[in-house]
Amino acid sequence: STNVDPFRPVYHHTPLYGWMNDANGLVYKDGEYHLFYQYNPYGSMWGNMHWGHSVSQDLIHWEPFPIALERDTLGQIFSGSSVVDKDNTAGFGPGAIIAFYTSASDKNGQIQCMAYSTDNARTFTKYEKNPILTPFDGLKDFRDPKVFWYEPQKKWVMIVSADKEMRFYSSTNLKDWTYMSAFGAGYGAQPNQFECPDMVELPVDGDENNKKWALLVNINPGCLFGGSATEYFIGDFDGNKFTCDTKPEVAKWLDWGKDHYATVCFSNTGDRVIAVPWMSNWQYANIVPTSQFRSANALPRELSMFTEGNEIYVAANPVKEVENIRQEAQQLPDFEVKDTYAIDTLLADNQGAYEMCFTLQPNAADISGFKLKNSKGEEVNIYLDQKAGKVVMDRTQSGIVEFGGQSTMHQKETENLAAKNAINYIDNFALATWAPTKKSSNHQFRIFVDKCSVELFVDGGKIAMTNLVFPNEPYNSVEFYNDKGSSTIKDMHIYELKL
Ligand code: FRU
Repeated sequence: STNVDPFRPVYHHTPLYGWMNDANGLVYKDGEYHLFYQYNPYGSMWGNMHWGHSVSQDLIHWEPFPIALERDTLGQIFSGSSVVDKDNTAGFGPGAIIAFYTSASDKNGQIQCMAYSTDNARTFTKYEKNPILTPFDGLKDFRDPKVFWYEPQKKWVMIVSADKEMRFYSSTNLKDWTYMSAFGAGYGAQPNQFECPDMVELPVDGDENNKKWALLVNINPGCLFGGSATEYFIGDFDGNKFTCDTKPEVAKWLDWGKDHYATVCFSNTGDRVIAVPWMSNWQYANIVPTSQFRSANALPRELSMFTEGNEIYVAANPVKEVENIRQEAQQLPDFEVKDTYAIDTLLADNQGAYEMCFTLQPNAADISGFKLKNSKGEEVNIYLDQKAGKVVMDRTQSGIVEFGGQSTMHQKETENLAAKNAINYIDNFALATWAPTKKSSNHQFRIFVDKCSVELFVDGGKIAMTNLVFPNEPYNSVEFYNDKGSSTIKDMHIYELKL
């Protein structure tokens, strides 16, 4: 099977065949994580949207289930969320799983609908009085309902992406919804299409007495490097209205790569906030070089909040469950890097699915980093640039890169890059992504490689960076390097990962 689809990930969720985009309706109940997803069962490009369905007990091993929601006369089934209706507020039965989605058609536009399951998501029944919510102003882009329970006022809240803002509604029975407020006009990276909202409450720096809300806003386009990306806003929610802590022009990014989109979180997971990104970008998602399927999800990530300076940020770390699939381990003694230091063989039987962690001490070096390489001369170059204050992942030489096409630049950052190179366009795929980082005597690196992806987590998830790569052979060696002095690599571990 590896010959058929050499880029099929080993430990990331993918559909068996066909097309997948956004994760939908993420919900946990009775020991099962339900991952629904935007699904075209008839081909490996976007179209004919259904909700596909996979189930896991540990967020890592996924079992394919039958399609949960098929498109119908109201339209395609677009993105949305699910809740567990413990107290039977909707009257479909205590503990019913209720899914909220957008029906999309030329005729009816984008309208919000619901479906319920009383057998733990084995089967769903669409509510006979759908739709439950239509836009009050005839808005064309009005979709991706996120529903959650707001305990202080004992009511349900629904957030719907509405063009370039998010609209908030409330309900006590999940069927009748009242408009409360809107947030987002002029906020963050603008002007871009808002999609797939989520909002979660988290303790700041682990302090249960100091909680804040993070409103996740997926935007397309708007990514610093082109295409789609996930930004978030930190603030307060009083049950009616979200108030942002920062000025409108502040945009915070949940991930600094190019392939992290439509990220939303599981409901009903108690104190854990677990997000699942779709690991692609609308710029080229339909044409990536896989054949039987398109798109995987990035590793599920646990979100937390931390303070830096006067600002609160969201950290994203791979869920701890991924440690259960560590197989062969390679542990290296600490070493010094003078110019270069090569580890020629990453794992005896390298299938291109592994995890690497280490501490990097740049010492006097301005640039210190490492290249994941294969014997075909392809590489992913990840480095710390202390002078520029950046962590960079460069995939320009990573393998198959030509398919992505080019775009004219529209973001400030890429304009700077353009000026430097005297061009006014940028390759959509063949590029480097970067995140700002503070000067520090050491940085923690954790890298997950799985056939066609590299996920980088720096300093306990303060930086997450997710990028697709399509090497013609797995990267099976790593070369550390620096520009001057000697840097130090400590606590280096390499694990094969296998289900
Ligand atoms: C985000 C999105 C959603 C929409 C879905 C359609 O990637 O555009 O806004 O519901 O995909 O497949």
